[in-house]
Amino acid sequence: MIFIVQKQKKRVQIVAINVLTILLLNNAPVQATESKDQAQKAGKEHYNSYCISCHGINMVNIGTRSFDLRKFPLNDRARFVKSVKDGKKSMPAWKDVLGDDAIRQLWEYVKTRGKS
Ligand code: HEC
Repeated sequence: MIFIVQKQKKRVQIVAINVLTILLLNNAPVQATESKDQAQKAGKEHYNSYCISCHGINMVNIGTRSFDLRKFPLNDRARFVKSVKDGKKSMPAWKDVLGDDAIRQLWEYVKTRGKS
């Protein structure tokens, strides 16, 4: 009986170590190795999936129906993150769709002014 309990304990430990390893492998390298280019590229992909319908191809729109993202103040990342997460007037909120990483990548893309 004691033997079985110890065996189960060991199994729990192994599972815990595996979970930790997966967490470490998933988190650490992404941030450390993603280049600016990769972030912009990923951001553009998110943009083309979620934003292009209102904000236009390469962020080009006439700026009347929706905001001209090429004019977004680049010194105000906090405003960008907040508007994207929570939405603004007729723009829907994206926080249930896009995670922090995706929003960070979108910001890298917006900073290119649509030229990447
Ligand atoms: C359904 C149409 C629609 C979609 C899709 C959309 N937006 Fe918007 N967005 C708008 C409108 C409309 C505004 C202008 C809001 C206002 O009146 O201030 C806006 C404004 C913005 C602003 C400026 C907010 C501010 O602080 O002034 C940002 C940044 C923005 N959108 C980013 C995005 C991003 C990133 C996506 C994709 C994840 C996206 N939008 C998808 C309609 C949309």
